[in-house]
Amino acid sequence: MCGIVGYIGREEAAPILLYGLERLEYRGYDSAGIAVYDKGKLNVAKAVGKLKNLCELTDNGAKVSGCIGIGHTRWATHGQPSTDNSHPHLSGSGKIAIVHNGIVENYMKIREMLLSEGFTFKSETDTEVAVQLIEYYYKGNLLEAVSKAVDKIEGSYAFGVISSDHPDELIAVRKESPLIVAYGETGNFIASDITAVLKYTRNVAYLEDGDIAVVKKDGVKFYNSYLKEIQREKAYIDWDVEDAQREGYQHFMLKEIYEQPKVVKNTLSAHIKDGRIDLSDTLLTPEYCREIKRISIIGCGSAYHVGVVGKYLLEKYTRIPTEAVLASEFRYTDPIIDNHTLVIVISQSGETADTRAALREAKSLGARTLAIVNVVGSSIAKEADSVIYTLAGPEIAVATTKAYSAQLAVMYLITTALSSTRGLISAAEYDEVLAEMLRIPGKIETVLSDREQLQHLASMYFNNSSIFFIGRNLDYAISLEGSLKLKEISYIHSEAYAGGELKHGTISLIEPETLVVAVATCEKLFDKIISNVKEVKAREANVLCITQNKSFNAASAVTDNVFTIPNTHEMLTPSLAAIPLQLFAYYVALDRGCDIDKPRNLAKSVTVE
Ligand code: M6R
Repeated sequence: MCGIVGYIGREEAAPILLYGLERLEYRGYDSAGIAVYDKGKLNVAKAVGKLKNLCELTDNGAKVSGCIGIGHTRWATHGQPSTDNSHPHLSGSGKIAIVHNGIVENYMKIREMLLSEGFTFKSETDTEVAVQLIEYYYKGNLLEAVSKAVDKIEGSYAFGVISSDHPDELIAVRKESPLIVAYGETGNFIASDITAVLKYTRNVAYLEDGDIAVVKKDGVKFYNSYLKEIQREKAYIDWDVEDAQREGYQHFMLKEIYEQPKVVKNTLSAHIKDGRIDLSDTLLTPEYCREIKRISIIGCGSAYHVGVVGKYLLEKYTRIPTEAVLASEFRYTDPIIDNHTLVIVISQSGETADTRAALREAKSLGARTLAIVNVVGSSIAKEADSVIYTLAGPEIAVATTKAYSAQLAVMYLITTALSSTRGLISAAEYDEVLAEMLRIPGKIETVLSDREQLQHLASMYFNNSSIFFIGRNLDYAISLEGSLKLKEISYIHSEAYAGGELKHGTISLIEPETLVVAVATCEKLFDKIISNVKEVKAREANVLCITQNKSFNAASAVTDNVFTIPNTHEMLTPSLAAIPLQLFAYYVALDRGCDIDKPRNLAKSVTVE
């Protein structure tokens, strides 16, 4: 995720900004930049790649003189990593500079308006649109111009703004993206993350949604969106630096689990316009959607598990024969692929060697390829015919959580769009699914608010030597993911089975007290999975059941523990059922004292076959 730092005071700004950006490096980024005011003008320095490139370019800040400035580490969302696309962005006149975290959802509309007013653009970013919009409204009062601009902007943002016409102020504004003001001895700061300023001060104030702060070297004023002055209390931070990077969470995995409502919302809203799913900027044009004869979904680990969800959904809702294939197997199966096959490759990193090799193989066989990728500009994103980005931001914990959830969201969008284009879903059902999709982030929040129950369940079972997961259909796909999450971070032996398969062998492993997690969210198959639950209960297993609220009573009657998720559309249950399994795995690993963010023998990105 991008990082912001800003300073106004008596010291040289550039070294302070570079230090702050270095503290933000852990968030992941692909380019960095600073803008500093000096002698009537804003000087900008930007560099792609590691921060050391920017440090070299500016001689550790010595070449960019001035006591007010803003800095940014960029994680590309709109446009490739490049100096043009990296922040800070300048307005057309060069008098206003901006840094931005978040996404301006209506940037295309604003861009068109500004183009018609004669504005021109140098980058592909949504951020440049924001700074040009501020310039459009600027009539001598920077605060007013920022306020008018953010009033027109939809989406999430934290902005830092400076202007050569106002060298005594730094403006900060936020909506759904964190931003703080910090009070130092030589001046004041803004930052997206406390880490960036902890070296200088522990006195901060948190901006709330809609707040605008005018930061000067000797004081800060806060305004609401009507420009009425408001008060924001100062807080004292007593975290150490590493704590701060995790924003108070004990592990990145937990932080990333809690980011899921936001990333799912961002990923969905990027492709929903005026009440319709819009994938027109991908290869999934209506004409092509009607031509597809077969779909192969390829990935590794959790990405493959999203593929299994995709197989069930696409076959049910589009009637296109679909297979989910492990990338490492794909190349060696002599795949049946031709130019009527759509190959969907899924990868958080966009660098997984097996997935990349499978993509190349599919292309060489004539398939059209669509990548679902999190890292902009990654190898898979570049090599596929078309890309849909998951807007999950950088994922640091080895065990994927938020990227997995964002990939599921993309799978729902593709399924619903294809189903609609092929005339297989009524207008009413389309509207119903879409409306429920948009409710999923709120429902994930509801599940997260029950974390104590999962903590308790983990404390009951963390000593088990083996844990099984069972489910049918979509619940089987979720079982695969729940089992992987558990084994990779807790080192407990675990396997996932389709419920009906148990009695074909695995049931011999069930002993008294063995924990079986039964995922039972598919209403139509509820009775079937409960039959499997009875089979293991007859062998004295303990059963933890994950089901929808509406099935609580039926599940409680036959299992030892029940965790309920909110009721939802049958297509969307995976997004809610995955959350308790992530939290359960997390707390089991915590109770066992495991190195949760960096499990043994595993790497975040597997770039070798
Ligand atoms: O970067 P990718 O999505 O291609 O990575 C695929 C797998 O290596 C990954 O999902 C892995 O299974 C995770 N550690 C699971 O949590």
